[in-house]
Amino acid sequence: MNYETILVAHRGPSALITLNRPEKLNAMSHMMKEEMIRALRDLDADDGTRAIVITGAGQKSFTAGADIHEFHGRTPMEQWRMYEHGTLYDAVDRSTKPVIAMINGYCFGGGLELAMACDMRIASDRATLGQTEINIGIIPGGGASQRLPRLVGLGTALKLTLTGERIDASEAHRIGLVDEVVPHARLERRTFEIADRIASKSAIAVRLAKAAVRASARLPLDQGLRYEQSLFALVMATADKEEGVAAFLEKREAQWKDR
Ligand code: COA
Repeated sequence: MNYETILVAHRGPSALITLNRPEKLNAMSHMMKEEMIRALRDLDADDGTRAIVITGAGQKSFTAGADIHEFHGRTPMEQWRMYEHGTLYDAVDRSTKPVIAMINGYCFGGGLELAMACDMRIASDRATLGQTEINIGIIPGGGASQRLPRLVGLGTALKLTLTGERIDASEAHRIGLVDEVVPHARLERRTFEIADRIASKSAIAVRLAKAAVRASARLPLDQGLRYEQSLFALVMATADKEEGVAAFLEKREAQWKDR
């Protein structure tokens, strides 16, 4: 598949999507978001891809957010239609594969919303993050009002959203906005270490575990627990349950069948 604004590469069992407009700090144009949606859909359908990593081209930026030029003259109806067609953030959220944000630099506005839609966030020690929409007189429209408080709590989410301040990677780690901070030179190695470790597990178990944990963001506790129980009962029917248990008892490596 050919793309103009992103690159998609396969690295063993993992795929790497690179936002590729480095001269614009990888600002996300409408076309880039559409291409990302397509790439995520294709990778989701590809059995050879067991984990997906998203990053930005160049040494400076993950993404500086939505392309601000495109806000000029956009009408409410145009914005509404973009939502009706389904957003990039929905596409990341809905992916059945683990999606990891590899935050290699600036991560602002819609860029932070993209990172928050991912399953986990690994940041370079050079990264700077911010929910900066307020600085240009708008508000977040890609999920930050809901995902940021779930990650960092209400007060900190409001502080970041209303001040538009930028924070460094260690502060982002302290407040729970990123899951790990690593020296810039080791970012890629460490991120793919995590991706490949996940890829080495049973794909069906990874998929169900992700669905169960993700449900915690939208279900009340009693329903979430019930959902987990349903998926746990389902996993009893998989070939990988039999294989994993047998391999443990026979003291050997499991050979996953992904079913
Ligand atoms: N949309 C469109 N273009 C963007 C952009 C964005 N979100 N962020 C950066 N760019 C462009 C700049 O316009 C500039 O293009 P030019 O060379 O054609 O003028 C290029 O990327 C480099 O940016 P520049 O501002 O010169 O780099 P910097 O290192 O001095 O500053 C930032 C980097 C990220 C601090 C600054 O660009 C910025 O504040 N960007 C907006 C971030 C933001 O608020 N995003 C949320 C949008 S809702």
